[in-house]
Amino acid sequence: MSSTRVLVCNPSSIKGDTISDDDTRYALDEAVKDIQAGKVVAFPTETVYGLGANAFSESASKLIFTTKGRPSDNPLIVHISHLNMLKDLLDPRYTTSRAYEILIKKFWPGPMTLLFPRHSVNVPSVITAGQNTIAVRMPSHPIARALISLSGLPIAAPSANSSGKPSPTKAEHVLYDLSGKLGVILDGGTCEVGLESTVVDGMGDAIRILRPGGVTVEQIRAILLQELGESAPKVLVHKRDYEDDAQELNPTTPGMKYRHYSPSVPVTLLCTISSPPSGISSVPMIGFLGSLSADAKIGLLVPIDSSLLVQLQSPTSESQDIQIYHLGSRSSPAVTAARLFDGLLTLERAGVHHILIEEVEETDEGLAIMNRVRKAAGDVVFIKG
Ligand code: TXA
Ligand code: MG
Repeated sequence: MSSTRVLVCNPSSIKGDTISDDDTRYALDEAVKDIQAGKVVAFPTETVYGLGANAFSESASKLIFTTKGRPSDNPLIVHISHLNMLKDLLDPRYTTSRAYEILIKKFWPGPMTLLFPRHSVNVPSVITAGQNTIAVRMPSHPIARALISLSGLPIAAPSANSSGKPSPTKAEHVLYDLSGKLGVILDGGTCEVGLESTVVDGMGDAIRILRPGGVTVEQIRAILLQELGESAPKVLVHKRDYEDDAQELNPTTPGMKYRHYSPSVPVTLLCTISSPPSGISSVPMIGFLGSLSADAKIGLLVPIDSSLLVQLQSPTSESQDIQIYHLGSRSSPAVTAARLFDGLLTLERAGVHHILIEEVEETDEGLAIMNRVRKAAGDVVFIKG
């Protein structure tokens, strides 16, 4: 593959399968041709950009793994544009639970992935990486939906980044990372949610959140309680509410086995909310900065109303070269979520030597934010307020 084309699409020109803008029509036609020819295409979803291929084709799906450098034991999500497509992926005898019906009605299309029992007939085992489950998601982004629908195929797609790197939320992130490795990137602007979908396993007696994401645990709990009352299943977050030893050894849940979301420079989590474990003491921000190499260029990801910014106004910190990237305000975790990956990628490209990210409250979108931040960060420092 020699050159990668970035083709601009206008999401608002798409109404179902009708596309009113010529450039968007052209871009989608080119992408559909590639999908049908067994190639990979990068496309926007409401969460992050995906690297998609025909989910029914073994060779096309394998191409996703080689393009990303993804380990073959890490399964892919299959994306659909219509519920009829779900039927084609599952055993015809399979019936969805009441809880799944409720979640599908409320959150599809949208940033939620559901696990189903795998039906071996249709989907090549490279996609499910030998698991006996298949992950399915119906995205809400008009370009993603049009691509799937016009191709007439379910599309297997991980995030469109080299394995281990932060997920792309803009077409330029994909181009910078994967240029020359694929033919077409559909550019639909910035992804609204900015973090990946919530991965849900509801096949047992509880609803297990394998990866927190765009749909919050609070939202899932609320709708199940509203619809099912006392018989609503428990909603459990992996690692926080339960452990699963078998799963720890399996890469079936994002980031459990492999390093994730890491720029090429060290990342440190600055804890300003949680207290340090016994034996570890917290340090003032200026003291911590002083412990870093004096000529290191520092990237700082913080909410715009962070108390750390006040500490930085101290004259002792003025000599340090610090580039600040704002993550919205502390009361708007959805904005922080939308800006997190762009912040990591922007600071990395700006050539900083070390990235520092401030902790956020683990409620609502904060749970998914901290899940990604912990995986990106190589170490943790407790900062005095
Ligand atoms: O928002 C998203 O989910 C984005 C966009 C493109 O849709 N996709 C995405 O894909 O984040 P990826 O591959 O980067 O992360 C999906 C994760 C994988 O890391 C994998 O561990 C998990 O979902 N997964 C896929 N199939 C699974 C399965 N059968 N059982 C458990 N986990 C599974
Ligand atoms: Mg990914």
